[in-house]
Amino acid sequence: MFSFFKKNKKETQLPAILPLLVDLHSHLIPGIDDGAKSIYDSLELIKALKTVGYRKLITTPHIMLDNYKNTPNSILEGLQKLLEELLIRDIPMEIEAAAEYYVDEGFLKLIRKNELLAIAGKYILFETSYIHRPYQLEEVIFEIEAAGYTPLLAHPERYRYIKNKEEEYRHLKSLNVQFQVNINSLNGYYGSVAQKNAQFLSNNGMIDFLGSDTHNIHQVENLKKVVKSNAYKRVHLNNNIKNGLFL
Ligand SMILES: [Fe+2]
Repeated sequence: MFSFFKKNKKETQLPAILPLLVDLHSHLIPGIDDGAKSIYDSLELIKALKTVGYRKLITTPHIMLDNYKNTPNSILEGLQKLLEELLIRDIPMEIEAAAEYYVDEGFLKLIRKNELLAIAGKYILFETSYIHRPYQLEEVIFEIEAAGYTPLLAHPERYRYIKNKEEEYRHLKSLNVQFQVNINSLNGYYGSVAQKNAQFLSNNGMIDFLGSDTHNIHQVENLKKVVKSNAYKRVHLNNNIKNGLFL
């Protein structure tokens, strides 16, 4: 009982953390991936993200050869329509678009054609299968850098093929890959393995950016809880979180 109180006292001493202000991973453009299904969904999500404290959203629709054949044109057209709706409804929110690229043969072709939507013109957000480590992972990372961009791995904590955390995360860092952890991983929203991996990354100062990865309103409701947690505060104490670069 004594240690229980002692732990709580120590944790309440963690300083309050200011809102993140900028999010750089979400699926808010309606009808083009597995995120917002309609413009009404989009508006609901954007209003909810505003209440979390965000002032700017860089939304990142999936680009995936098999499921989501988005292009810079389809994404930017969708963004334009969304911005018009926000204006009509007087919902102030700064929104930009990039993409979340799935590592497949199509992605390699896009890199080689330099047909990419980068976050702030610099960071290429990419993800892989959750189950299988892609055989072309190193090649993709090399090609992103050769094209003049910085590779930014989405939710590194969620890949179940990562068995030896220490080795795999340090290997990716040695290739200059930056890490974007999902805030919702911190309270186990994606399961205990992702939560433990996120804690490992947090404790070792390996997190570069945080993302909401918003697809639906349940995720924003969870986000509201996590941003008040000590795990979230510790991320900011242990890591140099760079979301503010994009404000
Ligand atoms: Fe995503």
